Amino acid sequence: MRVLGIESSCDETAVAVYDDADGLLAHRLHSQVAMHQAYGGVVPELASRDHVRRLLPLVREVLAASGSDEASIDALAYTAGPGLIGALLVGEAFATALSVAWAKPAIGIHHLEGHLLAPLLEANPPDFPFLALLVSGGHTQLIDVAGLGKYRILGDTLDDAAGEAFDKTAKLLGLPYPGGAALASLAEGGRSGEFTFPRPMLDRPGLDFSFSGLKTAALVALRGRELSPVLRADVARGFEEAVVETLAEKCRRALKQTGHQRLVIAGGVGANRRLRDRLRSVVRDQDAELYFPRTEFCTDNGAMIALAGCLRFTAGMRAGVGMGARANWELGSIGV
Ligand code: KG4
Ligand code: ZN
Repeated sequence: MRVLGIESSCDETAVAVYDDADGLLAHRLHSQVAMHQAYGGVVPELASRDHVRRLLPLVREVLAASGSDEASIDALAYTAGPGLIGALLVGEAFATALSVAWAKPAIGIHHLEGHLLAPLLEANPPDFPFLALLVSGGHTQLIDVAGLGKYRILGDTLDDAAGEAFDKTAKLLGLPYPGGAALASLAEGGRSGEFTFPRPMLDRPGLDFSFSGLKTAALVALRGRELSPVLRADVARGFEEAVVETLAEKCRRALKQTGHQRLVIAGGVGANRRLRDRLRSVVRDQDAELYFPRTEFCTDNGAMIALAGCLRFTAGMRAGVGMGARANWELGSIGV
């Protein structure tokens, strides 16, 4: 089974071919970051138009790079949601048109299912069941993953997502959008302990998160002071440590609560080195194992969508077919 996967939920156009026998054969991505940077965030209409421009050339490239053609592709998978509705509709229209033209089935994939299955693209993939920490620009969730399509949300953010908090704080520090990775490198030069920001929700039981207070704490720390390189680095360090510590403690509690032996990190913030290092020590203390995708598959990519599509097709699960793109879509409700 060979699947062509298409991701267009936000500001990356990404395409990949995944084969159940040979693994990932090719993947390509076009990032719109430079286009949106002038506006300090993603402009949905510009995103949709750029997906229209990029998809066909990327699909041609990936087909050539993977040695695939109409005859060797068995099925199509595209991101049906959640995301920007215009951007999603471009991917869906494209995949549906190709599906009709090639007479091959197409399936709509949940973007977050793609993210949490991404570690299965790696050489030493986790077996089911596992606990997943999904930390992206739009989501911060702890998920009990019993199997493909069997997802139970254990904890969620009450306000900002972890990536959103990174991006907003990065903006305060004068970094361009999206600032997560830039804030992380700024924090490398910062001093630990110069600023101790609150660890949101750690004083309460449960597995939910809240990050909106952190950017306010960063704002207060910066207020009335000259934005010197040392101050920026120290605030970045204090902020990153607060987020990492909060995520790590919730993961520790969730592992204990579920008894899972495997922890998967997925989503853009999963690329954060300090978070990975901290979670390594959490799993060590709990006799569990840590799994994460390579950095380029932490952030949005087509490989995770092609993989999720391939797994669903080979398991005979076609729940997403013909269900249409949607901006909001609960992961816990997608089923098998
Ligand atoms: O998963 P993703 O590519 O897109 C969504 O589905 O949201 O995640 C993007 C998020 C952005 O907020 C970005 O700033 C953040 O991931 N991010 C990072 C790092 N790399 C990307 N945050 C912290 N540290 C990083 N190294
Ligand atoms: Zn994503």
